[in-house]
Amino acid sequence: MPTTNDIRATFLDYFAANGHQIVPSSSLVPNNDPTLLFTNAGMVQFKNVFTGQETRPYSRATTAQKVVRAGGKHNDLDNVGYTARHHTFFEMMGNFSFGDYFKAEAIELAWKLVTGTFGLPKDRLLTTVYSEDEEAAALWRKIAGLPDSRIIRIPTTDNFWRMGDTGPCGPCSEIFYDHGPEVAGGPPGSPDEDGDRFTEIWNLVFMQYFENPPGVRSPLPRPSIDTGLGLERFAAILQGKRDNYDIDTFRALILASAEVTGQDPDGPFNASHRVVADHLRSTSFLIADGVLPSKDGRGYVLRRIMRRAMRHLHMMGTTEPTFYRLVPALIRQMGSAYPELVQARALIEETMRGEEERFKAMLDRGLALLEDETSHLAPGAPLPGAVAFKLYDTFGFPLDLTQDALRNSHHEVDVAGFDEAMEVQRQRARAAWSGSGDSATETVWFEARDKFGASEFLGYTTEVSDAEVQAVVVDGVSVDAAGPGTKVEILLNQTPFYGESGGQVGDTGMITAKGLQIAVTDTQKKLGDLLVHTGTVIEGTVHPGEAVTARVDHERRSAIRAHHSATHLLHEALRRRLGAHVTQKGSLNAPDRLRFDVSQPRPITPEELADIEAEVNARIRENTEVTTRHMTPEEAIEQGAMALFGEKYGDEVRVVSMGAPEDGRAAWSIELCGGTHVRRTGDIGLFRITAENGVSSGVRRIEAVTGKAAEEAAVTTEQRLFQMAAMMRVTPAEAPERLAVLLEERKVMERQLSDLQRKLAAGGDGTPKVEEVAGTSLVARNVGDLPPKELKPLADSLRKEIGSGVVALVSTADGKGSIVVAVTTDRAEQVDAVALVRLASAAMGGKGGGGRRDMAQAGGPDISKAQAALDAIRKALPDMLKG
Ligand code: ALA
Repeated sequence: MPTTNDIRATFLDYFAANGHQIVPSSSLVPNNDPTLLFTNAGMVQFKNVFTGQETRPYSRATTAQKVVRAGGKHNDLDNVGYTARHHTFFEMMGNFSFGDYFKAEAIELAWKLVTGTFGLPKDRLLTTVYSEDEEAAALWRKIAGLPDSRIIRIPTTDNFWRMGDTGPCGPCSEIFYDHGPEVAGGPPGSPDEDGDRFTEIWNLVFMQYFENPPGVRSPLPRPSIDTGLGLERFAAILQGKRDNYDIDTFRALILASAEVTGQDPDGPFNASHRVVADHLRSTSFLIADGVLPSKDGRGYVLRRIMRRAMRHLHMMGTTEPTFYRLVPALIRQMGSAYPELVQARALIEETMRGEEERFKAMLDRGLALLEDETSHLAPGAPLPGAVAFKLYDTFGFPLDLTQDALRNSHHEVDVAGFDEAMEVQRQRARAAWSGSGDSATETVWFEARDKFGASEFLGYTTEVSDAEVQAVVVDGVSVDAAGPGTKVEILLNQTPFYGESGGQVGDTGMITAKGLQIAVTDTQKKLGDLLVHTGTVIEGTVHPGEAVTARVDHERRSAIRAHHSATHLLHEALRRRLGAHVTQKGSLNAPDRLRFDVSQPRPITPEELADIEAEVNARIRENTEVTTRHMTPEEAIEQGAMALFGEKYGDEVRVVSMGAPEDGRAAWSIELCGGTHVRRTGDIGLFRITAENGVSSGVRRIEAVTGKAAEEAAVTTEQRLFQMAAMMRVTPAEAPERLAVLLEERKVMERQLSDLQRKLAAGGDGTPKVEEVAGTSLVARNVGDLPPKELKPLADSLRKEIGSGVVALVSTADGKGSIVVAVTTDRAEQVDAVALVRLASAAMGGKGGGGRRDMAQAGGPDISKAQAALDAIRKALPDMLKG
C-alpha cells in the first residue's frame, strides 16, 4: 500500500518523466495575488505565467502545493472534523501547461496516470465536463473509452473554475471515483451528489480566459492547462479508505493527539482528534510561512484555527499547553517533503505555546459562562447574540469556536444578534475616533473601514505585491473611476507600502496594471489600520475592484530602513553613555536623515557624541541579524525591551532586536516597534551624527545620517577640505596647522596696520600739528581713510598730547564722513564738543550728532566738505572761549 509520501513522489516523477519541471510549493501567503487570503490552488504561483506577464524557462510544470481553504472564496473551516474530506490545509498535486499542450494531452496524461501508474480500475471512474464543452466530452470518449453515461455534463459554475473574483479561469473537467453502491450518495449533478459515494479526485482546468475587472473576460495569450488533485483523498482511495482521516499521515497525527491527551483515538473524541490533526497542519504551515496569530486578516484566521484546536484539546482534558507538543509528529510525517517545517520548528512551537498559554485562562472562564448561559436555554433555542459577542470580545472566542462548542448541545448562535452587537461596538469606536480631523474625509474612510476592514500590510517581507483596489477617493469622495492627471487616494486590500507611523515616513512607489500607472507619493494610515496611498494617475484609469501590482520604491525604502534601524542603535547607545533617563520624545526616519529627540537635561558634549557615534558604528560592523518577534507586552518587557510607559499596547507587540546578546539580554538593542528594518546591522553602512541641539527645556535633538546619505555627507565635507588645502597650498593633513598660522599672522598684521594708520593720521611723524585759536590749542585735521572706529582713540591721544584745548578730526573712509570732537577737561566748561560736532556735521550736509561735552561724534554725507567742517569749528571756537 503506497504511503502518502510515495504517492506524492510518484505523481511528481510521472510528470517529470513527461517533460514537466518539478517546482516547489509556493508560500501559503500569496504575495503575488490580488484577491486571495491564502494560496487556494496549485495555479496561484503561476497566475502571471498564464497571463503572459511573466515567463519561465519551462512551459510544463508540476507541483505539490500547500493549500489553505479557511476564509475567503474557498472556506472549509466549519466542516473540518465532522466530514470525511474537509480540511483547512491540504496538498494539491498538479500539472501545468503554459501554452504548451491543451485538452487532449491533459486528459491523456491524467487518465494514464490514474489507471496506468496508480492502477485504479476504469469502471470505478467517471468524469464531468462543462455542458458547453463538447470537445472535452469527445476526448474522454476517445482517449478513455468512457461511455456517454459516464461523461456527465454539468451546466453550472461547478465546471467553470476561477481562482477568485478576478484572474485566470476556464471550463473544467473532473475525474470522480465511485466507492460503490454500498456507500450513500449520487453521481455529480444529481440531487444527492453530496453523499460520499462519488469522490472528485482530479480537476482539469482548461485555462482560456482572464477575468478583470469582475465580469469582464479576455482570452489568455495561449490556451493553458491547470490541474488539481487532492492528495489526501487520492491517498484514501489508493489506501483503500473511505475517509481521508484514515490515511497514513492523518492516522499518525491522530495517534499523536490520542497520546498527548490520553483519549482513545477511535472513542468519543474521534471528531476532536480529527480537528486537532487538521488544524495542526494548517497552523504549522501558516506559521512557517510567516503568518502569526493576530486580530485581523490572515492572522485572525490563523488564531481562529488555533483556538478551535485548543478548545478541542481542552475538552479532551488537557490542562497545560498541549498543541505544540504535536509538532514533532507532524515534522516526522511531512518534514522531508516540506523542509520549511523543520526550519521554522522553534517559531511554530513557541507561537503555539504562547497562544495556548494566553488563551487557556480565558477559555476556562468563557466556557463556564457559555455553560451557564446554555443551561438557561430552552431546547433548540438560539444562544443570544450578545452572549456570543461577550465571549468574543472579553474571552477571545471567535464566533465559529462558540458555534463549534454548541454543536453537540444542538443550540445555534443568533448570528444576526452577534453582528448587531459587533456593529454597536464599531459605532462606539467610530464615535471615539471622530473629532480627530476633517469630518468629510473621515466619513469616506469610516465607510471603507466598515466595508473592507483593516488593510493588510505585507511590507515586512516584500516590496512588491499584487492587490485589489478597494476604493478610489478623489477630493474626499469615493469614485468609480479616476483618469490621467487625477490626484487620488487609493485603498488596496493588501499592500507592501508602509503607512507613516512611529516616526517612519510613508512609502512611495508605483501602482500599476496593464495600461495603468499611478505614481504614489505618500502612504498614510487612516483610522489606525487603513493604509491609504496618495498619488497621481499617470496613465490609464483606475477602478475599484481591479487587480493591480503595488511596488515600493526600493532605494528609498532601503534608505528609510537603514535610518530606522540606526535610530534603535542610537537610542541604546545614548542610554548606555548618558544614563537610563534618556527616553524617546520623538523621531523621524526619512530616506535622507534621521532625527531623534530625547529627554536629556543638558547639551551632549562633543566627546559624548563621538563615543555614541563610535558605539553605533561598532554595532553596525558587528553585522548581526535583526530579528522580529511577536509576544505579549509583558514578555517583551521581561526580555528587556524599551517600552514607552503610558503607551497603550494591544495584546501582542512586535519586538525588534539587534546586536549580539549580552548581560543576560537577548540582544544589544530590544525595542517595541512596528517599523521596517534592515536584515543585518551591517546594511546600515555608516552612521554619522550631523547636529545636536536643544528643542525645548530638557529635550535634546540629534540629527544623523546613515548609509548613502552619510557617505554623501562625508564626500562633501572632504571636498571642501581639499579645496581649502589647495588654496593654502598644503596637503589636507597640514591644513589645520597652516590655517592657525595664517590666522595668527593676520592678527599681528591687523595690529600693525592700525598703529600705522593712527600714526599717519596724526601727522606722519607722530607730532601733532597744533594751531592757536583765541589763545587755546586746536588740532583740526582731515584724516582721510582712517576707519571711523579709530577716530575716538586718536582724538583721545591727541588731546592728551596737547594738554589743553580742542581736537577735531574728520574721516572720509569708504566715502562716508565721520567727525569726532574732543575737548580737554579744563576747557569743557566753555567749549561744548556736542555743539561743535553738530556744526561740523551741518557743514557736511549731516544732521545731529551726540556724545558728551568732552567727546562727541557725528556723521555727514558730503565728504567734499571735510575742510569746510573743520573751518566751521575754527570759526565758532573764539566765541565759545569768550563765553
Ligand atoms: N485550480 C484548480 C482547482 O483548484 C485545478 O481545482
